[in-house]
Amino acid sequence: MRKIVEHALIIRHREIVPTYFELEFIAPDIARQALPGQFVHLRVTRSLDPLLRRPFGIYNVEQKIGSVTVFYRVVGRGTAMLSDLHTAETVDVLGPLGNTFSIPSTMQRAVVVGGGVGIAPLVYLARVLAERKVEVMVLLGASTAGFLVGRDILKRLGVDYMVATDDGSEGLKGHVTELLERMIDRKRFDYIYACGPEPMMVKVTEIAQQNGIPGELSLEEHMACGIGACLGCAKKVRRPADGQDVYAKVCTDGPVFRIGEVVFNA
Ligand SMILES: Cc1cc2nc3c(=O)[nH]c(=O)nc-3n(C[C@H](O)[C@H](O)[C@H](O)COP(=O)(O)OP(=O)(O)OC[C@H]3O[C@@H](n4cnc5c(N)ncnc54)[C@H](O)[C@@H]3O)c2cc1C
Ligand code: FES
Repeated sequence: MRKIVEHALIIRHREIVPTYFELEFIAPDIARQALPGQFVHLRVTRSLDPLLRRPFGIYNVEQKIGSVTVFYRVVGRGTAMLSDLHTAETVDVLGPLGNTFSIPSTMQRAVVVGGGVGIAPLVYLARVLAERKVEVMVLLGASTAGFLVGRDILKRLGVDYMVATDDGSEGLKGHVTELLERMIDRKRFDYIYACGPEPMMVKVTEIAQQNGIPGELSLEEHMACGIGACLGCAKKVRRPADGQDVYAKVCTDGPVFRIGEVVFNA
């Protein structure tokens, strides 16, 4: 797959709730190739400071107009600078990068678990699963109702979703993994996809393994080059063939890994 740099016209950039932004830009060559799980590497200003691009999962693609959307949270200098870009300006985009979620042909019922802004790359996945007639349920977790990500798109797509909030302001009061435990008892999911904070991913792994359900996790490791050249994103994984722990590059070997493969806290 060819990596492309596009000077993409921003057609929508809005703050949904404080610090949470949706950014849509026209990048037809990237849109044509983008698959669920992949990410784009954005230059957050037109200058060379900061030098490094910032990675964001692909949240949605509209093939008709050749647009790609990302959903991001402002956490530091780079994302704060990105949030200053306006509609009708351009943003320099490299992508699509990384591997993709797999969609086994035998899959019938999938559950998609997203914590906070970790739901961003899973919304495009849910859309593709639904288009392929896989029965899909999305479980969304956030600290409070205002920070639940992706509901509008999921509603528009007609994808089922359920909610857990830490403060109980909407849905189940508690963690999204508690919702997963409850739903696993009721539905016979045959695949689990997840993205979110590390403690959530550890818990999802535990639940998947206890229930013998395969699946995949998308990691959001710190990155530099994004194309496999600097080792800035190395993560310990356990090789299934011989059980040996080795380092994988999240940007090119991932960001998607099989459940059980990632060695957390390493
Ligand atoms: C493949 C991939 C996909 C991603 N997708 C999204 C997405 O869809 N939406 C989104 O909001 N973010 C996403 N991220 C995370 C995003 O890239 C970072 O939040 C961003 O690069 C931070 O840049 P900054 O300059 O604002 O923060 P910095 O100034 O670099 O850091 C600010 C704070 O955030 C922490 N931080 C920075 N990067 C990360 C990271 N990758 N993981 C955890 N903590 C981090 C730093 O430790 C620091 O505490 C993704 C990351 C990867 C690797
Ligand atoms: S970010 Fe450079 S090798 Fe992954």
